[in-house]
Amino acid sequence: MNDHSKMMIDLCPVEGVRTAGEGIFALSFSSAAISRSVRPGQFLNLRVEESRDPLLRRPFSAYRIDGNVIEVVFNVVGRGTAAMRGKKKGDLLDVMGPLGRPFDTVSLGYDSGILIGGGLGVAPLPLLTSSLKKEGKQVVTFLGARTSAVLVTEYLQDPHIATDDGTRGFHGTVVDLASATLRAHPLSRPRIFACGPTPMLRAVAAFARAEGIPCEVSLEGPMGCGIGICQGCPVETAGDEKRYALMCKDGPTFDIRTIKI
Ligand SMILES: Cc1cc2nc3c(=O)[nH]c(=O)nc-3n(C[C@H](O)[C@H](O)[C@H](O)COP(=O)(O)OP(=O)(O)OC[C@H]3O[C@@H](n4cnc5c(N)ncnc54)[C@H](O)[C@@H]3O)c2cc1C
Ligand code: FES
Repeated sequence: MNDHSKMMIDLCPVEGVRTAGEGIFALSFSSAAISRSVRPGQFLNLRVEESRDPLLRRPFSAYRIDGNVIEVVFNVVGRGTAAMRGKKKGDLLDVMGPLGRPFDTVSLGYDSGILIGGGLGVAPLPLLTSSLKKEGKQVVTFLGARTSAVLVTEYLQDPHIATDDGTRGFHGTVVDLASATLRAHPLSRPRIFACGPTPMLRAVAAFARAEGIPCEVSLEGPMGCGIGICQGCPVETAGDEKRYALMCKDGPTFDIRTIKI
């Protein structure tokens, strides 16, 4: 279950914004308190403008932690992300976090972590990679994107690459690449961790079910409060009865056995 006991709000000095790919940016800020408690798969809710316009905080996966410095990676899709791109070193950022359920890296018996990311679904994978390596797991990574210019491969361990247009690596989807590779070279006691667009996650879940591989997916969708109050992020749970979990509080990572995907 999710544990919000470590959640805090911190006013964090911005370290800078850098380019991480074509139209993709990484924003870093420092917070000793949040950097110590964030775990792979959790997210941070950023108040991007002091004027509170936009009013709602914006959720971003924790991408990288280096000492006290936390980095998130994003592309500009609207007002909030445009404001993030314009941040300067020394600006103050109001950050709530860490939020949500992290990937379950510890409780289940497995030897190999299979990481599958699509587009900016790569965001939680660097933290997950270092966490799995610390636990002595084998890490095999598959990363897919529309085209090579928008691939963000930094901090990953030798990722197998797929692009929709064939400009780098396998010409096709990352799930086709992962399933062909893993069927040809099965791993010892694998567990899949995936993040990306919903159609990709559905394909990952179908593959995992067919192969009997335990699998967790990190979902993305619109959020309001980010802390389980507004009920604005329902996810239909598995089973015959119509019930909903909350993406922000029960997720964003879910074991595929627990939700309809
Ligand atoms: C748990 C979680 C983790 C996330 N991590 C990242 C990340 O690491 N990097 C990243 O770039 N983005 C991430 N997102 C998505 C990010 O929060 C949104 O892109 C951002 O809030 C958009 O803010 P905006 O003000 O720029 O755009 P808005 O003006 O709010 O919206 C612009 C457009 O994007 C759509 N949109 C907004 N939020 C979402 C969303 N969550 N999913 C799909 N469409 C959306 C809107 O419907 C609209 O069409 C994450 C979302 C969640 C829920
Ligand atoms: S975003 Fe408010 S309950 Fe999830």
